[in-house]
Amino acid sequence: MAIITFAQVKGGSGKTTLAKCMVAEFTARGAAVAALDLDPNRPLGRFFARIPELAHVEVAVPDQERRVSTLVRDLAARFEHVVIDLMGAATNDTQVAMALSDLVVVPSQMSEDDFRGGIETWRQVEEAEAVARRPIARAVLMVRTSSGAVRPRVEGFLRDTYAQAGAHVCTASFGERTVWKEMSYAGWVPHLHERGGNAAENFSAIFDELMGLLAARAAEPGPLAA
Ligand SMILES: Nc1ncnc2c1ncn2[C@@H]1O[C@H](COP(=O)(O)OP(=O)(O)OP(=O)(O)O)[C@@H](O)[C@H]1O
Ligand SMILES: [Mg+2]
Repeated sequence: MAIITFAQVKGGSGKTTLAKCMVAEFTARGAAVAALDLDPNRPLGRFFARIPELAHVEVAVPDQERRVSTLVRDLAARFEHVVIDLMGAATNDTQVAMALSDLVVVPSQMSEDDFRGGIETWRQVEEAEAVARRPIARAVLMVRTSSGAVRPRVEGFLRDTYAQAGAHVCTASFGERTVWKEMSYAGWVPHLHERGGNAAENFSAIFDELMGLLAARAAEPGPLAA
């Protein structure tokens, strides 16, 4: 069982796109997955409703009565995996969601603003871990990277800068592809409709690396020392 959250205070970094991909990947692999949508535009339910293979996916949304902690616990009791899409700002709900997560992924595009937001989000996950008093696996994921063979200098520079700030960056990155942009209205999802294609393979590599981080976290000793 894993609760996986996509978090980044910088808006438009790729959280929702990656959350959609994560749910599609779990579904393609036959795992029972549900989602919690904290993006104020509530994109997940609309997206899943358009794809027959994903139309059954349960999407919880908090309201006055059903708080984030209640919803996460309820989904976690009924599903193998829970994917959480946060909003592009820090709120009480985002902090609670992170503290309940097993893995937090911080998407970062190739910009100074994304880097600053990424580091701010990284610090929030560290705080969430201190509050939860148990390890929370975490990684920055480079987003909209060039799909060419040569890694652009800006990506290398940002990877180094994250590492210097103490943030772990995934080896795999989420390449710039039109299909990820079009997925919402085209109703065509590489993970489900073209497994083995370049786009699906790209996300599959990300997925495997994230599952590796979760496995490493599970092997860590229990509650953190006070
Ligand atoms: N790998 C990619 N290739 C091409 N476009 C991408 C990729 N990843 C994300 N995008 C595009 O970037 C834009 C922002 O992505 P997304 O909505 O997922 O970000 P977000 O972090 O959820 O934003 P917000 O903070 O507003 O919720 C969208 O138009 C999306 O289609
Ligand atoms: Mg979003």
